[in-house]
Amino acid sequence: MKKSFLHETAQKMVSRAILAADESTSTIKKRLATIGIESTPEVNRQYRQLLFTADGIENYVSGVILYDETIRQSTDGSIPFATLLEKKGIVPGIKVDKGTVAVSTLGVDKFTQGLDGLAKRLEEYKEFGAKFAKWRAVYTISDGSPTETIIERNAQDLALYAVLCQEAGIVPIVEPEVLMDGNHSIDQDKAVSEKVLKTVFNWLASYGVDPEGIILKPNMITSGKNHSQQASIEEVAEITVQVLKKTVPHNVPGIAFLSGGQSPELATTHLNEINKIRKKNQSEYPWRITASYGRALQGEALEAWSGKKENVQKAQKVFLTRAEKVYKASKGQL
Ligand code: G3H
Repeated sequence: MKKSFLHETAQKMVSRAILAADESTSTIKKRLATIGIESTPEVNRQYRQLLFTADGIENYVSGVILYDETIRQSTDGSIPFATLLEKKGIVPGIKVDKGTVAVSTLGVDKFTQGLDGLAKRLEEYKEFGAKFAKWRAVYTISDGSPTETIIERNAQDLALYAVLCQEAGIVPIVEPEVLMDGNHSIDQDKAVSEKVLKTVFNWLASYGVDPEGIILKPNMITSGKNHSQQASIEEVAEITVQVLKKTVPHNVPGIAFLSGGQSPELATTHLNEINKIRKKNQSEYPWRITASYGRALQGEALEAWSGKKENVQKAQKVFLTRAEKVYKASKGQL
């Protein structure tokens, strides 16, 4: 019963795109600062309300990741955000990791906090309506990094998180993010991402995580942001699907990419190209492949809003235009 609920929820989550609206307190502060607005719980609420109440969002978005502050908030009409989303046929989820911490002995590697008390927090989030969760591990490509130590540690933490979620009847989004920051080549990204994904799936299996009840949220394989020769759209798509084919079990229902700092247009084009390849050979790429973008779904809308009431409708229109494109890209239809 629980198992089939997890499987059905996972499939529903990736039927369209997943909006990552789970910026932590410090991240939303940074995002709002780009439009000259100071973040407060009320300003954050108004911004998230703009996104969630956009008329027709449910045509393109099948899941929304919320943050602890947001899942406790409601619309102007006092409808809790999770209830509003659920009513629209959108699955509400929650970020449960508590961010990353640098450890000086580990160089640039970081580990993710949040396992302590997680089982209890999952129960509370369930009460608020969360049907899925998200945990993000990060990896930086730089001299000697990511180390074997952090690759193993992050994978085990992701596995423990995932099994705790499934036991609570919550679908875990497993997010190992190899960062685009740096001047590495696409081949370096390929090697690191492949190793990271292999290690993650090995540990998920060791912890008894049901692959049919998870969603993978990986990075696309790209050149580092500062690399002198940026890989083409076709190369990114081809190399990304090659790595997925080698590492992701066939019974994982869905892969939802993060945008990782790509522009909205580039993240959309890459997703479309990836799905064009998938469409040609669905037996090799059996998973649904969609997006779980934060910046690439929100960036243009945030700018259009600029914190002004009179811009709400315009911003919603901009948001829906991007969401529609991302949804079409998830079907290779652009
Ligand atoms: O954890 C990362 C977010 O959920 C995705 O954000 O698409 O801006 O990288 P991004």
